[in-house]
Amino acid sequence: MWKEKFRIGVSCIDLQHQELFAKTGELLREVNDSVDKHRDTCISTILFLKGYAVKHFADEEKYQKSIRYVNFDEHKKQHEKFIRTVLDHEQKMLAADFDAKSVKAFTGMLVTWLVYHVTDSDQKVGQYKPEAAQAAWSAQAAQAVLAAQSSQAALSALSSPAGLSSQAARSTQSSPAGLSSHAVRSTQSSPAAQSTQSAQPSQAAMSSTSTQAPGGLPAEFGHNHSDMVYRGVLDTLNTMADIEQDSIKLVDICEETFADSVAIEVALSGEVTGYMTFVYPVPMIKKLIFALMNYVPDNVGELELSALFELSNIVGENICGRISRAEGFTADTRPPVLINMHDETPDERILLDTGIGVIETDIVLEHRLPAVHI
Ligand SMILES: [Fe+2]
Ligand SMILES: [Fe+2]
Repeated sequence: MWKEKFRIGVSCIDLQHQELFAKTGELLREVNDSVDKHRDTCISTILFLKGYAVKHFADEEKYQKSIRYVNFDEHKKQHEKFIRTVLDHEQKMLAADFDAKSVKAFTGMLVTWLVYHVTDSDQKVGQYKPEAAQAAWSAQAAQAVLAAQSSQAALSALSSPAGLSSQAARSTQSSPAGLSSHAVRSTQSSPAAQSTQSAQPSQAAMSSTSTQAPGGLPAEFGHNHSDMVYRGVLDTLNTMADIEQDSIKLVDICEETFADSVAIEVALSGEVTGYMTFVYPVPMIKKLIFALMNYVPDNVGELELSALFELSNIVGENICGRISRAEGFTADTRPPVLINMHDETPDERILLDTGIGVIETDIVLEHRLPAVHI
């Protein structure tokens, strides 16, 4: 399973990743052959992987601390969330006495998470250059000192009473920083009033009209999220299946039949509620599984479905993060679930031709304003 692109350039971590991929590959082969036939080996491999992952995360976090990695907290949260997911699967496998269904569900999740995490998040650790960060920080700090000095000089030139100038200088220095983040947020959360409630696929996928709401009101949903969906899908498929930016485009009509497809829903909770539904045609799922696990399945079984759940989880979190940042709301994703297609028309339907198949994304979002107490 190991590929050269997984290498992050830190030898002790790369060796541990190789071991994780080797053992995961072993588990995948056993599961694909027959869980029942290899039941005891599957159990010992799963237990080994659980213990080894915990040790690896501790070592990797130690390394990140040693280089003062800027995204340490966020990375650690990803490790912790994965451990919780593993423990959840462990409970289910124990309850089901490690039957084929529960072991396949664990394996599909494991492979997909591992490929994405090592290729995306761990790669960023390898690319992090503490010296470069230090230099950038020093340059920023120097600029701040120069700006403060010029403010001080300007204030000294004014004929204000002695004793006020230092106070004024402090105000001048502190206000821009305090205002700038607020200003950025206000700009980013500029809402769009264009409703797409009744949009048909062609309109929803192609529309990009947005308008500024008056009075700096909070963002209204119902506006176009095509770009965020595009970026989220691109990020994930580029990492998972080496699909390049040029290969993915928005389309308004899908030539493929969606009769043979799988729909997975990722619900949102928090200040934003609603859901994103991802619909994958089966031929595309087979190509994704080949890219991830190096085999072409005959059909979409428990293992492939579990991999698709994790993939949808990753895409959903990516899109949710973009919406939260752009529109100034907090939202979390819930675990993906398999659904029959909704009868209702979504707020937005976005069709992306990925080069290996068309993914349909249906979005329904509502924001919940905080309660106002008078
Ligand atoms: Fe990691
Ligand atoms: Fe890692």
